[in-house]
Amino acid sequence: MSQEGINRGGGALFRGDTQDGLLHRAFLRGAGFSAEDVRRSPVIGIANTASELNPCNAGLGELAAEVKAGVRAAGGLPLEFPTISLSEPFSRPSSMYLRNLMSMDVEEMVRASPIDGVVLLGGCDKTIPAQIMGALSAGVPAMVVAAGPRPVSCFGTNREFTVDDVWPLCEQRRVGELDDGAWAALEGSVNVGVGTCNVMGTATTMAAVAEVLGFALPGSTLPAAASESRRAAARSTGEAIVAAARRGEVATELVTLESLENAFRAITAMGGSTNALIHLEAIAGRAGLRIGLERLDEWSRTTPVLADVRPGGRYLLEHLDQAGGVPEVLRRLGDRIHGQAPAAGGRTWSEVLESTPPAQEHPSLRTVAEPVAPRGALRLMRGSLAPDGCVMKLAADAPARHRARVVVFDGLEDLHARIDDPDLEVEPSTILVLRGLGMVGAPGMPEVGHLPIPAKLHRQGVRDMVRISDARMSGTSTGSVVLHVSPESAVGGPLARLRTGDEVVIDAGSGELNHCVPEEVFAARVPAPPPPLPPRGFARLQARHALQPHEGCDLDFLVAAQEES
Ligand code: FES
Ligand code: MG
Repeated sequence: MSQEGINRGGGALFRGDTQDGLLHRAFLRGAGFSAEDVRRSPVIGIANTASELNPCNAGLGELAAEVKAGVRAAGGLPLEFPTISLSEPFSRPSSMYLRNLMSMDVEEMVRASPIDGVVLLGGCDKTIPAQIMGALSAGVPAMVVAAGPRPVSCFGTNREFTVDDVWPLCEQRRVGELDDGAWAALEGSVNVGVGTCNVMGTATTMAAVAEVLGFALPGSTLPAAASESRRAAARSTGEAIVAAARRGEVATELVTLESLENAFRAITAMGGSTNALIHLEAIAGRAGLRIGLERLDEWSRTTPVLADVRPGGRYLLEHLDQAGGVPEVLRRLGDRIHGQAPAAGGRTWSEVLESTPPAQEHPSLRTVAEPVAPRGALRLMRGSLAPDGCVMKLAADAPARHRARVVVFDGLEDLHARIDDPDLEVEPSTILVLRGLGMVGAPGMPEVGHLPIPAKLHRQGVRDMVRISDARMSGTSTGSVVLHVSPESAVGGPLARLRTGDEVVIDAGSGELNHCVPEEVFAARVPAPPPPLPPRGFARLQARHALQPHEGCDLDFLVAAQEES
């Protein structure tokens, strides 16, 4: 069936004086809608991902009510519906394993339903990328309302306790340095309200991407989850989607190489998550575009870091919001930004910035003349260990070149069995390698690339080591970690042939990741075996069709036909 054949006519189905029209209206009347309600136009779907299995998104019910009020105020008919909701901590084997499935749920529900546009309510890491991917493929007017960051909390003497403060405490517990009382207190201190992680992790990074691409209203990324400004933004989004539907604006028009560049430069300037690389490439793919490693690396090297926010920096997201948030970041990036790219609400970013007065100065947001760092922290690299690329988030004090012996772990079981073994042959300069944890191998590329420091080194005060893996890491983590090695070892990438004792050289300056084994010796080795093909279901579909990280890890049959770029 053709795409047009699948789409049965949007909200117009409610409006005709036909059997179809009558039945559409009649069914809604039975659910409590009035005769006037069922004749409102346009019909706006509200895809809500509020779920008790996803506490980060638990506040979305309240925001859905605001969106509805906005849609009604503008004359439209709002109809809320659920989709899959993916929690970062609760989804097994990883939330990334289900991102593509969620994108299919969104796409098919939007396309199958009698609606003229959709508002996507998301938050926790994979939800907004999946929603944007689905909406792009469905080809409807679409806007995003993000859950917003949860409040900061207190722990001990720390009055600004954020999610990234949790990981060092977990490490302390693992090596026996955190007592039972503190451990019990931590449980009640990590999350003290709904909303997404309260640092520039993946959730806030992807909300910012939605804002810069023109899906979320300008200035809507950073206000706190339960704030009046977020509720107001949700209401305004309801009004704006009605206008977008009347204009006939479709999501695919928002995603161009220019808008993708704006999004990547903005998140680079804000010290955003490594996960954004994969999601941006997947979003590009749904719009028939390919960004590519070379462009991403070029944009990273030519964009200064302006935001001094956690997890890498000193200030809180609320400080960055007070400093003007995403629009002010774009303004300060000046001619690095394509001003003609659309912002949500029907104006270009140039028009939005012209009409937005500069916010009050705050040290959480610097200028290009006095940046936090002159260039972005992400280095896109290639080499004999990663022919299709990998990424490293460089700490400010990290050495540009590191050559050392590796210790290789085959998957999480092997890692957990040996990492704290007192006889493990490691020293602070050793490179720890974790493989078998890519999109196909794990499956679902879990956020475990930030592998723990061996206990015996941790006790000596070692807090960072160079690590390499085909997994991802949490956007709330920091450290000298090479991630997303592509192709992953489970599909025969060179990582599968690496052995403990080999030497590896990482050169962030030249952008290379190479092993130092003679090529003929390396090629003759028997690779680590791939996992068996799952016998059935989505696991089998994904194992057969998942693309590698440099292609966004989408399913190959969901990517749009590519335009020349
Ligand atoms: Fe949900 Fe961080 S765990 S946003
Ligand atoms: Mg995360």
